Amino acid sequence: MTKVTMEAAMPYGQIEKENGVAVVWLDQPGKKVNTISIDLVDTFTAILDSLENDETVKGIVLISRKPDNFIAGADIDKFKDIVSSNEAEELSRQGHALLNRMAAFPKPIVAALHGATLGGGLEVALACHYRIASDDPKTILALPEVKLGILPGGGGTQRLPRLVGLQTALDMMLTGKNVYPRQAKKMGLVDDLIHPYGLLQAAKKAALELVGHPPERKKRQSFVAKLLESNPLSRSIVYKKAAELVQKRTWGNYPAPFKIIECVKAGLEKGPEAGMEAEIKNFGELMVSPQSRELVQIFLSMTALKKNPMKEQARPVRKIGVLGAGLMGSGVAHVSATNGISVLLKDITYEAVGQGEKAIWRDLDGKVKKKALSPFERDITLSRISGTVDYRGFEKADLIIEAVFEDLELKKRILAETEANTKEEAIFASNTSSLPIGSIAAAAKRPDKVIGMHYFSPVPKMPLLEIIVTEKTADWVRATAFDVGIRQGKTVIVVNDGPGFYTTRILAPLLNEALEILNEGGDVEEIDRAMRQFGYPVGPIALIDEVGIDVGAHVSKVLGPLFTARRATPNTAMERLFAAGYKGRKNNRGFYLYGDPSSKKKKEVNKEIYTFFGGPNRRKFDPPEIQNRLSLIMVNEAALCLQEGILQSPRDGDIGAVFGLGFPPFLGGPFRYLDSLGLPKVLALLEKMGPRFTPAQILRDREAKNQRFYA
Ligand SMILES: NC(=O)c1ccc[n+]([C@@H]2O[C@H](COP(=O)([O-])OP(=O)(O)OC[C@H]3O[C@@H](n4cnc5c(N)ncnc54)[C@H](O)[C@@H]3O)[C@@H](O)[C@H]2O)c1
Repeated sequence: MTKVTMEAAMPYGQIEKENGVAVVWLDQPGKKVNTISIDLVDTFTAILDSLENDETVKGIVLISRKPDNFIAGADIDKFKDIVSSNEAEELSRQGHALLNRMAAFPKPIVAALHGATLGGGLEVALACHYRIASDDPKTILALPEVKLGILPGGGGTQRLPRLVGLQTALDMMLTGKNVYPRQAKKMGLVDDLIHPYGLLQAAKKAALELVGHPPERKKRQSFVAKLLESNPLSRSIVYKKAAELVQKRTWGNYPAPFKIIECVKAGLEKGPEAGMEAEIKNFGELMVSPQSRELVQIFLSMTALKKNPMKEQARPVRKIGVLGAGLMGSGVAHVSATNGISVLLKDITYEAVGQGEKAIWRDLDGKVKKKALSPFERDITLSRISGTVDYRGFEKADLIIEAVFEDLELKKRILAETEANTKEEAIFASNTSSLPIGSIAAAAKRPDKVIGMHYFSPVPKMPLLEIIVTEKTADWVRATAFDVGIRQGKTVIVVNDGPGFYTTRILAPLLNEALEILNEGGDVEEIDRAMRQFGYPVGPIALIDEVGIDVGAHVSKVLGPLFTARRATPNTAMERLFAAGYKGRKNNRGFYLYGDPSSKKKKEVNKEIYTFFGGPNRRKFDPPEIQNRLSLIMVNEAALCLQEGILQSPRDGDIGAVFGLGFPPFLGGPFRYLDSLGLPKVLALLEKMGPRFTPAQILRDREAKNQRFYA
């Protein structure tokens, strides 16, 4: 007979007992998702106390009552309250005590996982005796702590390698990447997969079957991996290689990955106790490290920017029109359709439309192959996009986003055509990368409905949307564009209009300065290396090749007057290179030569390029000189953007630079960087470097008042 009893409601977990199984429902009060917090530790301790001596309970199931979420990790908001490494160590120690007790619990505990199982959430699951996951694409398992500059502090660095093997565990923890259900099963991270509807039943069954029969697991590893991980000597090669790879990728700017390797090594070579101690100590240190503080700040700013401050003014957008099915247009169509918006995708020819649609198909199908998306979802998404070469159907569109060539006259013409073919209240958004929105809207009939929506390439991957408003843009238009950006999964900043708005405007002087160093005899690879070492994902010269020398030449023309105003000579190299047929990566003629894409050969410097920069003789620059010139000219321009009201806050400036331009995340963004360097030092450096580095007045003012950009 089935007997269901409900114990008194606990603050976080509720117990339901049925046929010898206690089902613990995780349901953190007042939160949309379950997080790891002190009340969870208290609740679990109480639950384990009550179940340990309850004779009616043979096995236990942990499951979440929240939709599509098991436990989404720690409450990151609380990180800033931790002021000392001792405090952080103590938290980790408490977590360890609880999870060790779970792992050694005399009754089997089964984790039933559906939805986000992240960070501490996965560590809870790892401490259980058995894991069943739903085979739903919403189920994601990861230990993403490294992205916040810390490490898994709940035994993750110890339990994961023992379960899935050393190399797989390092890969997961050093990248923080998502693991989807099928991969999780294959690597042994979960024991079984089941449809979400059958999850609870399957978990209950497993809990009873495990009574007196602990699970037997075979390591699902290749022969080579087993061999490599079988003894201390071969494992030492794995640790060394992992550390080398981290060093190569991060230039040593982030301490967390090295500490992760250290903890794993301590555990496997000196035993679990030593490993746990290393984890607690390193967790404490990392938690209060400057890198982690900056990464946490970025996370919190990003979360804040995911909320539309003018939500109540936003109007519904059901259908959008996208003009131009090229690189950017197809990307915008993709992220819109993925998030439930119908799209009319227009280009000049069916061939161009077809190419855009094909690019979207390729991307979605890649996800299906990785099992991150079901074939049904792929097809539904594609069915939301209708390709077209005329304006039929545009009368129903609520928002039109143009992504045609970067040409002011063309954009003005497209705007006029759109106004003639759409309803009165339709919004026109331009994805221009540099042209002032006011100039595009100069002859608009409905200038209050014109706005900039600046996406970054590749659109499905890049997290930022920069919205540009003019003096005439209506508030509801701004609110609606913001809403669309959030629906497309973007972090949104709103800036005021001007040439290059914010992101392009601060990038341009950095690139210009890189070309200036080339003019002075610098070396392409040295400049790029210095800036990667500083923390950028790609060097500035490689970036020019990626963006396109044609695009760069155009942008320098638009921003030319700005450089002149700063007493800098706009570098004409890009225009001259473009005129000579250099376009960068797209035509395999740039600062680098890329060779055949199918060959594995690394790109090499195109020596011809030096004829545009004073000939083949190059001279050495110290990396700090390159780094200071390039980073501070950008940071100073960011300060000018704040001074002139292009930016509304330092926070927007930091998020725009980190998410849109790859400004080193561990430095937190231009304004956090200014704060951490200290304005007296920044002013001294700028003043030493010449007239084009003349400090923004706002820097002098704040220094005089001893004010920071962040409290
Ligand atoms: N590529 C980037 O990294 C990037 C980033 C941000 C913004 N942008 C901006 O986005 C816009 C598009 O750039 P892209 O890289 O996608 O260019 P692209 O060359 O890949 O695509 C432009 C598309 O517009 C189409 N087109 C031209 N005239 C048209 C018309 N009258 N009606 C409909 N379609 C028309 C072209 O056929 C082409 O397919 C530009 O303004 C660019 O500055 C580009």
